[in-house]
Amino acid sequence: MELVFVGLGKMGRSILEGVLAAEFLPPQEIGIVERDAAYTSELAEVYGVEPLVHADIASAKRALVAVQPKQFTALAENLAYPGVGYISIMAGVTTRRLAESLGTRRVVRAMPNLAATIRKSTTALTGPREAREAGDLEFAAGLFKTVGDAYELPERLFDAFTGMAASAPAYVALVAEALADGGVKMGISRKDALTFAADVLIATGELMRFKHPAVIKDEVASPGGTTIHGLAALEEAGVRSALYRAVEEATKRGRELGEKG
Ligand SMILES: NC(=O)c1ccc[n+]([C@@H]2O[C@H](COP(=O)([O-])OP(=O)(O)OC[C@H]3O[C@@H](n4cnc5c(N)ncnc54)[C@H](OP(=O)(O)O)[C@@H]3O)[C@@H](O)[C@H]2O)c1
Repeated sequence: MELVFVGLGKMGRSILEGVLAAEFLPPQEIGIVERDAAYTSELAEVYGVEPLVHADIASAKRALVAVQPKQFTALAENLAYPGVGYISIMAGVTTRRLAESLGTRRVVRAMPNLAATIRKSTTALTGPREAREAGDLEFAAGLFKTVGDAYELPERLFDAFTGMAASAPAYVALVAEALADGGVKMGISRKDALTFAADVLIATGELMRFKHPAVIKDEVASPGGTTIHGLAALEEAGVRSALYRAVEEATKRGRELGEKG
C-alpha cells in the first residue's frame, strides 16, 4: 500500500479526490481509515479504494494524517509503526511533536488551505533531513500538487504562512462580502453584487500572475477619477494596516496553539 489516508473529513476527502483525479496513485495502492469501520467501508466503496483498520498502517509505505490536532494525541499510539513515512496536515503540530509522537523522523508537516476542496490550495511543506532522504518530501510535493500548488518553506515560517496564506481565504471572503455590501448600498441587487465581487477578485488574482499589485492599482486609478477617490477612502479607513495586523495576530495565535501542543 503506497498511501493510507487517516481521517476523511473535509480535507482528507478533498486530497483523496485530487489524488484519484490526477491519477497520482492507482486506487488499489490507496487505503483509508476513518474512526468508524462502517463509515470507512462506505467511503472505500464510493472511491474504489481499500478500507483498512489502523493496524494495517504498519505495512504501508506512507500515511497522511488528516484528523483534527486535538484528535491526534489519542490516535498517535495506533499510528506509530517503524518504516512508515508520515505526512501531517494538522494545523500547529510541529515536526518535532510528530517525530516524538510517532517515533520516527520520517515526518512531513504540510499546511494546505480550504481551496484544496477546489484543487487550488497553496500548500507549504517542511520536514527534517530523514524525510527528504526517504523521498517523503518529494512524494508530499507531488501529492499536494494534485490539489493546487506546493512549496517548501522553513518550519520557522509556518506560523506566518498559516497566518497569511492558510487563513487568507477567510480574509479575502470578508473583503468580497464587504465589497458586495457596498454595491448593495448603492442599489445593486445582492445576487449581482456577489457575482461582480467574485468575478473581480478572480480576475485580479489572475492579473497578479503578470503584474505587481501596485501596477494594477495605478493602471485602474486615473487622475481625479473614481478609483482614486475609492482608494483614498480605503487608506483613511486603514485597510492596509488592518491586513498587516490580521496576518500578525493570526501568526501569533498559531504560535500560541503550537506551544500548547
Ligand atoms: N479545514 C481547513 O481549511 C484546513 C486547512 C489546513 C489544515 N487543516 C487541518 O486538516 C485537518 C483536518 O481538517 P478537516 O477540516 O478535514 O477536519 P474534519 O472534517 O473534522 O475531519 C477529520 C476526520 O478525521 C476523523 N477522525 C477522527 N479521529 C480519527 C481516528 N482516530 N482515526 C481515523 N479518523 C479519525 C474524523 O471523524 P469524526 O468526525 O468521527 O471525529 C473526521 O472525519 C485538521 O488537523 C486541520 O488542522 C484544515
